[in-house]
Amino acid sequence: MTQPKQNSPVEAGIKISSLNDGVGIEWCDGRNTLQFTHSYDHPGFYRRINATGQSIIKACSNKQRSIHSVLDLTGGWGIDSFILAHSGKQVTMLEQSHIVHSVIAQSLKNALKNSSLSDTVNRIKLQNINSLDYLSSTDSSTRYDCIYLDPMFPAHKSTAKPAKDMQLLQKLTENVDIEACFELALTRATNRVVVKRPLKSTPMTVRQPDLIYREKTVRFDVYLTADGRI
Ligand SMILES: C[S@@+](CC[C@H](N)C(=O)[O-])C[C@H]1O[C@@H](n2cnc3c(N)ncnc32)[C@H](O)[C@@H]1O
Repeated sequence: MTQPKQNSPVEAGIKISSLNDGVGIEWCDGRNTLQFTHSYDHPGFYRRINATGQSIIKACSNKQRSIHSVLDLTGGWGIDSFILAHSGKQVTMLEQSHIVHSVIAQSLKNALKNSSLSDTVNRIKLQNINSLDYLSSTDSSTRYDCIYLDPMFPAHKSTAKPAKDMQLLQKLTENVDIEACFELALTRATNRVVVKRPLKSTPMTVRQPDLIYREKTVRFDVYLTADGRI
């Protein structure tokens, strides 16, 4: 696999490889190592995307079934985008980190080979870009029914470490211009903006959500825009 450019000391410790069961990502700083394999094509993930009653799907849908396009401003490992695309939405996924982007691009390519995933993959468009740049540079007439944000959560007080994939995201990435993205998203989403938050945290800004969908540890704050209020 072509190695992406490595621009920072953290990125210099990253090795990406093609494995039989997915894309291997290994980070090492000389003392500590973190390793995991990224793939959309395995039974555990099929169960996840096929689970019924998922709050993320409820939050990004409406009764009139008029939400078809979703813009995901915080792609990450692409789990949420994949779930939304599997539920039938056309998803544009943006990710600012070129390392994370290159992993996702390869995993999407791999998943395309599985005929039961290919329709879902074909509904996803991935771009390596800062979402604020994307929103600012695209024509303001370009609208999405729903705009989705899942910013990195603040460090947890408990000593329990998050899963390895999340630990790696925390090392490699950060929230960039997230509040500005949120404000601009409110002017670009025709129906709603959805923000994933830790269950007990405050909303992202002083604006209060119109709807909230809760799960065990996270919640989805829904901000209705013009069409969503009709
Ligand atoms: C918590 S992760 C998202 C996880 C994702 N929802 C998933 O299902 O894997 C947040 C991601 O947002 C990305 N990000 C943060 N600010 C961004 C921005 N302004 N533009 C694009 N991506 C951004 C980070 O690089 C990180 O990969």
